[in-house]
Amino acid sequence: MKSDYNPPVTRTLTLIYATSTGHTEFVVDTLQAALGKILPDLRIIKQRAEVSTSEDLEKSDILLLACGSWNTGNVEGQLQPHMHELLTVRAAEAELKGKPAAAIGLGDDRYYFTARAAEKLTEYLIERQATLLLPTLIIINDPFDQTAKIEAWAKEFATAVSKLPAVHFKT
Ligand SMILES: Cc1cc2nc3c(=O)[nH]c(=O)nc-3n(C[C@H](O)[C@H](O)[C@H](O)COP(=O)(O)O)c2cc1C
Repeated sequence: MKSDYNPPVTRTLTLIYATSTGHTEFVVDTLQAALGKILPDLRIIKQRAEVSTSEDLEKSDILLLACGSWNTGNVEGQLQPHMHELLTVRAAEAELKGKPAAAIGLGDDRYYFTARAAEKLTEYLIERQATLLLPTLIIINDPFDQTAKIEAWAKEFATAVSKLPAVHFKT
């Protein structure tokens, strides 16, 4: 007999971030707290870029990348050095085709190339044909009074995750 029971779907999100002064960490912690309330079934694996591998980007149902902009290689508007190293070397060949993904980029408006990390993270995902769930969150200047913006984005992110077909989720 066919049952109407639909077991809860276990969703996994790998959140890979890099931070130098703690700004990105604040943003991802605020996001994680908000998602915990909206999507309690979402299992979040939060880890730093410097200890991450290509397999870490590939392993979960959903991927989220976050970091600030930096003058990596003495050129402004680049990814924070640890994220730069991960995405351009260790995970340059990551297989992300069709993977639901999103990005968060930070920056400071005292720099001419403001928050270009947001563009670079988005480009990385698009080039590997990941499925962007929503426009990249851009946080300019100190994030500490931008909680409402982060929480609003968390809500949109959660809505997009909820709409994903179950086929994306491993059980
Ligand atoms: C050495 C250095 C270089 C930076 N270069 C840029 C830049 O090119 N563009 C930009 O928008 N912000 C730049 N920033 C600002 C950081 O991206 C911003 O403060 C961010 O919030 C830092 O996040 P994090 O502490 O998580 O690394 C730079 C900051 C430092 C200290």
